[in-house]
Amino acid sequence: MHRALELAARGEGFVHPNPMVGAVLARRGNVIGEGWHERHGEAHAEVNALRSCDDAAGATLYVTLEPCCHHGKTPPCTREIIARGVTRVVIAIEDPNPLVAGRGIAELRAAGIAVEVGVGRAEALEQNRAFLKYIVTRRPWVTLKTAMTLDGKIATRAGESRWITGEEARRRVHEERARNMAVATGIGTVLADDPLLDARLPGARQPARVVIDSLARLPLDSRLARSAGRSPVWLVHAPIAPVPRLEALRAAGIACIACAGDGRRVEIADACRRLGEAGVASLLLEGGGELNYSFLAARQVDEVIAFIAPRVIGGAGAASPVGGAGVARLDDALELVDVTVGRAGADVMIRGKLKH
Ligand SMILES: NC(=O)c1ccc[n+]([C@@H]2O[C@H](COP(=O)([O-])OP(=O)(O)OC[C@H]3O[C@@H](n4cnc5c(N)ncnc54)[C@H](OP(=O)(O)O)[C@@H]3O)[C@@H](O)[C@H]2O)c1
Repeated sequence: MHRALELAARGEGFVHPNPMVGAVLARRGNVIGEGWHERHGEAHAEVNALRSCDDAAGATLYVTLEPCCHHGKTPPCTREIIARGVTRVVIAIEDPNPLVAGRGIAELRAAGIAVEVGVGRAEALEQNRAFLKYIVTRRPWVTLKTAMTLDGKIATRAGESRWITGEEARRRVHEERARNMAVATGIGTVLADDPLLDARLPGARQPARVVIDSLARLPLDSRLARSAGRSPVWLVHAPIAPVPRLEALRAAGIACIACAGDGRRVEIADACRRLGEAGVASLLLEGGGELNYSFLAARQVDEVIAFIAPRVIGGAGAASPVGGAGVARLDDALELVDVTVGRAGADVMIRGKLKH
């Protein structure tokens, strides 16, 4: 199963909104076949493993997710597993997809195959956390990424923020962008920094780029607008956004998504719902303090990645990763769990999940 999880990880960034899945076939202690789900819409892991060996009769199949039993973009995997004479299947986790949800396991058992579930469960749940949230809620797994100085600032008092962190931390951010289906920021950051929000790594899959911009102020000469032909740019706006602005942006190739308004601003929970409807299963949030606060206050953040640079810039008015009203009582603080601390060059990287 450990090997199957390793194989599954090779699909990261290429299979979403599908899950990453890996499979290993073994007989009498020898590995006789391997496969993983390589690209969205292409063959599933189990089928790739079965195709990698001539004779699977009597083998055990180790697979990181319950095999599917329905016709999607590919035929049901259960059928091929049964037809090839596999006698035992070991599964890490059930597939909560309502089209599967235990039926794949039942079908294998009905065909006389011994099925064991739960081997490597914790690792499999972690690996597919975005898929597992999305398939049940239809909302994206949101990772808030921020880069700050040791004194908790994301820009100088004059608004300069390039670059707070070093090269290695920035490379990791590009990796995160390629892992996620979309990257979002606020119009405040776009007006201040004119970012591209693309994944600048060789061979990387490019995420859709999302601007949360209530009044559709995104400049047509911004780098985002000018690059909309290369990879998608979506503007999430409030109902009061001026129609002529929306028309001009659409003409420039930008998709405009109307959301419920929270006062004059985009309502964040609705923005996440609409991004989910548009097929976004994972979202990297790279906002300034204002937008980050709204996402956190709306309980829409699942995970945080914070880079902390060993530099001090000071300034009482310089922005920090989370602005807004904040909380008055420490008891009301949002807490992270499953926290890991690592290094990215000279910078420290802290990662954790929001305790909801
Ligand atoms: N170091 C880092 O990791 C990092 C990352 C990003 C940004 N930054 C820095 O942060 C600064 C910009 O921060 P910022 O706070 O002004 O920009 P921001 O958080 O990126 O964008 C804020 C804007 O988003 C729009 N928005 C729409 N709906 C919202 C909602 N429900 N809640 C909050 N905002 C909503 C608002 O404008 P409308 O009301 O017009 O829609 C708001 O002014 C820049 O200096 C940038 O360099 C640093």
